[in-house]
Amino acid sequence: MTNRFQVSQTEPHRVPSYISSLYKGFYMNKGWADFLDADWFATLSTFGFYSKLKRSLLEHIKPKSWTLMVGNSYGWLVKDIAAKVGDKGLFEVIDAVPIQAESAGEKLSPWPHFKSIVKDIEHYHPSKKYDTIVCYFLLHEMPDKKKKRVMKNIASLLALNGRAVFIDYGTASKYHPLKYLLRAYNNIFEPFADSLFKTGIKDFMDDDNLHFVTKTFFGGLYQKTIMTIKKG
Ligand SMILES: C[S@@+](CC[C@H](N)C(=O)[O-])C[C@H]1O[C@@H](n2cnc3c(N)ncnc32)[C@H](O)[C@@H]1O
Repeated sequence: MTNRFQVSQTEPHRVPSYISSLYKGFYMNKGWADFLDADWFATLSTFGFYSKLKRSLLEHIKPKSWTLMVGNSYGWLVKDIAAKVGDKGLFEVIDAVPIQAESAGEKLSPWPHFKSIVKDIEHYHPSKKYDTIVCYFLLHEMPDKKKKRVMKNIASLLALNGRAVFIDYGTASKYHPLKYLLRAYNNIFEPFADSLFKTGIKDFMDDDNLHFVTKTFFGGLYQKTIMTIKKG
């Protein structure tokens, strides 16, 4: 697929079944996808924590770096990352849903050398490596076995000093007032999120060569986990 934005799709593509069964209305319906793709919804869906999570993510985006974002995200995050990478770097967004990749491509249109790619990240094997790979509320959408395979592939795409930044739900304390409300909602609408309320992101990977650091937000309801490759 090629259009006025840089969106690349080089082979026939199948949307992963967890997306078409659980997120069809959100991601595969253009009208809804466009309506929800806004800062107000990103703020609402994170109980007002969007700006804080975004600031914390942007700390890891370096000017002139090679950066990959896995999954289009609501609102202006794609544009903010692109602006921070700047004209001398490389920024790509990969999304398994063509409508979402197009939306990311549209956001990237002020930077004609940046592009979005239609592909499942599990099966993305480019020859290049990235300084930073961003996964903003990505992992909770997929089954646990898929989380592991996706994280494994992301680790293989990191440059030597590179890092993957995962922002997602966290374990939260058992006294957190919203934990059970959110889990009840997720049990109906986002069933694969539940494991993140029980276990750390690092526990999905069994690889001694990887190093993880986690910071929590909002009483642990959200987490930022940084994955790097151990040196030596
Ligand atoms: C990154 S998450 C972010 C959406 C989130 N609700 C937010 O707050 O912005 C959702 C995006 O990831 C994409 N996605 C999910 N699984 C994927 C995969 N295996 N490979 C590439 N993109 C994927 C979906 O198509 C969707 O556009």
